[in-house]
Amino acid sequence: MPAQQDLTDPDGQKAAAERVRRVLSPRAAKARVRTFGCQQNEADSERLRGMLAMMGCSFTEDDGEADVLVINTCAVREHAETKVLGVIGALSHLKKAKPGMIIAVCGCAAQRPEFAEKIRGSYRHVDLLFGTHALRRFPELLEAAVAGTGRVFSAEDSDGEIAEGLPVLRDRKYTAWLPVMYGCDNFCAYCIVPYVRGRERSREPERVLTDAGALIASGAREITLLGQNVNSYGGKPARGAGGASGTGFPELLRRAASLDGDFLLRFMTSHPKDAGDALFRAMASSPKIARCLHLPFQSGSDRVLSLMNRGYTRGRYLELIAEARALMPGLVITSDVIVGFPGETEMDFEETYSLIESVRFDSLFTFIHSPRAGAPSAKLPDPVPRAEKQRWFERMTALQDKISGEKHSAYVGKTLRVLITDETGDAAYPARGRTEGNRLVRLTNGAGAAGEFREVKITDGNKWSLMGTAV
Ligand code: SAM
Ligand code: SF4
Ligand code: F3S
Repeated sequence: MPAQQDLTDPDGQKAAAERVRRVLSPRAAKARVRTFGCQQNEADSERLRGMLAMMGCSFTEDDGEADVLVINTCAVREHAETKVLGVIGALSHLKKAKPGMIIAVCGCAAQRPEFAEKIRGSYRHVDLLFGTHALRRFPELLEAAVAGTGRVFSAEDSDGEIAEGLPVLRDRKYTAWLPVMYGCDNFCAYCIVPYVRGRERSREPERVLTDAGALIASGAREITLLGQNVNSYGGKPARGAGGASGTGFPELLRRAASLDGDFLLRFMTSHPKDAGDALFRAMASSPKIARCLHLPFQSGSDRVLSLMNRGYTRGRYLELIAEARALMPGLVITSDVIVGFPGETEMDFEETYSLIESVRFDSLFTFIHSPRAGAPSAKLPDPVPRAEKQRWFERMTALQDKISGEKHSAYVGKTLRVLITDETGDAAYPARGRTEGNRLVRLTNGAGAAGEFREVKITDGNKWSLMGTAV
């Protein structure tokens, strides 16, 4: 008689997890997951930890203590990959001293064939490698690695599905990541993400809302809705007006904000080509939605924006900022920018510089273009020397540091609502938290108040953070 299929476990992951648990539990196995890269990877790591807990592991913060060590990698810039290769290389000594441990490498870099080949050939102490698409198959893959019959490599490329129902073990109590969609279809010319994360796919709104409700019930006070471009949530609608499910991102945001409880919603990232009035009105509609917008502009030059395949102009970007500010005075705006895109000239850079001067972002994530094999920009002629790009980069960061410092100084004397997120153990600033605008606040008091929204009087500020006292 054929074995009965467990309909709640169609591809046998729970059964594999149970078999791994029977092996690891008696050994009191400890696991550690180290995460590189963005919030999406952090959210994936919470699922890896959830699956490891299901497989009977407890957790450690010490590589040397780990029986299962998982390195969740990022591929967005070359530096991210070389850094992670350095970390993996340094583990060879540990593996020699403790041959029974399992070293697993996963995530975005692992999805790249070139990286996987490097691990296969030169990092022979790695037992298991799997890409972003194989995340949900972790129990089955770990089972094969634990069996010890050989190294396990899974570089499947089935990018169309969504792994629902994975167990999640969050590492932060009061703040939570909530993925609403996966992948990216935008193919910005410099970016590797669409190749390692696959095609864009949105979760059903009901599932997102159920998860949000469960997070609030479990004590989360700040929930960040995640996607590479949340404004195309729900299909491929123009300006997020609703897609396959009929629910676009603005609607999802409104519905999430109408859930019961004392919490704050954030989201990232928004793409300017799909952001607009509907999004800003939804943000302005509820005090439970943070008045804080991360809207990457990448370049202030129309010529470079077009080479980057970004789908908007400098003028449109500035229009969006003006519309958002008109609806939400005091809105905190942050952004991402790349200098030294292949073919960028000094005149192009000056346009980026002047855009920063005119928008005056609250903070800015600044990058020098890093060619990624597979992304179109890696093939473009790139005549500007690295030293010149570095000079532009430093001018730009000096400008932004000045603006951030001025913006933070302007908070001094004001009283702001702050979510106290954690205790620090530091005598001068025993607690820290975040303002609605996601500014970091170091508090002179507030120990014991983690998880509470408190009114905080701001007493000082520098370019990185604010200092204050809960009143
Ligand atoms: N999906 C988001 C978006 O479009 O804004 C963020 C994607 S990426 C994880 C975060 C940032 O890394 C991008 O906004 C971009 O500024 C930067 N980035 C991506 N690829 C890069 C590259 N090849 N070189 C330098 N910076 C890059
Ligand atoms: Fe990369 Fe562009 Fe997609 Fe963001 S929107 S992940 S920058 S391709
Ligand atoms: Fe994020 Fe890096 Fe992957 S930025 S999506 S972890 S390539």
